[in-house]
Amino acid sequence: MSKIVTMIAPVNIAVIKYWGKRDEELILPLNDSVSATLDTNVMCAKTSVCARPEFFENEIWLNGKKESFTNQRLENCLHEIQARAADEKSVSVEFLSWKVHVCSVNNFPTAAGLASSAAGYACLVSALAKLYKVKSDVSSIARLGSGSACRSVYGGFVRWHAGVNHDGSDSVASQIADASHWPEMRALILVVGETKKKISSTSGMRISVQTSELLKHRIEYCVPLRTEEIIKTIREKNFAKFAEITMKDSNQFHAICLDSYPPIVYMTDVSHYIIELVHKYNKTCGEIKVAYTFDAGPNACLYLLDKEVPKVVSLLKYAFPTSNSEFITGLSVQAEELT
Ligand code: DP6
Repeated sequence: MSKIVTMIAPVNIAVIKYWGKRDEELILPLNDSVSATLDTNVMCAKTSVCARPEFFENEIWLNGKKESFTNQRLENCLHEIQARAADEKSVSVEFLSWKVHVCSVNNFPTAAGLASSAAGYACLVSALAKLYKVKSDVSSIARLGSGSACRSVYGGFVRWHAGVNHDGSDSVASQIADASHWPEMRALILVVGETKKKISSTSGMRISVQTSELLKHRIEYCVPLRTEEIIKTIREKNFAKFAEITMKDSNQFHAICLDSYPPIVYMTDVSHYIIELVHKYNKTCGEIKVAYTFDAGPNACLYLLDKEVPKVVSLLKYAFPTSNSEFITGLSVQAEELT
């Protein structure tokens, strides 16, 4: 006797960045963040989970390689889903005692600052929730795997509320608007480097919290204003303003990395060249038509409207003649079960 569930979950790319925790164990952030969830056709995680009475221990395979299940974040996610299932009485006590095997793959570079952990944990938690028939919101459980993962539980535009409660009960994600709200919105991912990042987001944000003065200013003054402003631009579909806030927030996040001590450098010369190119393009157009944003790595995500895609793609082909590492995608619905 066994039960198996397979799901796919999308990547999300923040336009208001999460950077800094107030609780490392519960993964509670210092600030609200906002992101767009990308289409699973281009970048996604795919996870199968299976529970059987014969399994001797919990096991996991990541991109074909067997990894240890003793990772605390993984254990926390599984434990929390099982606790919810017990609360909701959604499965039998016997089923809860079975061990699980997990198999997960990504279709894009892992740990190169392309939100792979976000899609991975969102997928794992969504698949476990299906396996254990958990009905309530699981964004706070995905958060226990990786903070940004809680935003990948929903499609379209998503806000992660930092919350104020010590137990993290109000640190959850909610949808601002679904993917159909702004169907012209596109994301273009430019892979600049596929190497593993030098400093993980987890370690990087810890250094910033401990040493950056600028981070305090960002949390107190900038993020609260920007969050409300960008939500308004999304609701009103005001692309120029949306793009401006997105770029400013990415720049501020990387300024904080540099303000950290020792400084953290995620972007490369190529990343800076992309920034220059986008500003020149926007200036030539006479209005903001493209936004860039960079996470904890050198790869760029450009947000633009579909009518702009052909022009921007030909510009990129001219600027990077040997590159074939760009993906164009729309926004997505939430994690889906594969039958
Ligand atoms: C720069 O969610 O990867 O991508 O919670 O420690 O796992 P942990 O960090 P993670 O950090 C993501 C940081 C970011 C910005 C963002 O996605 O909001």
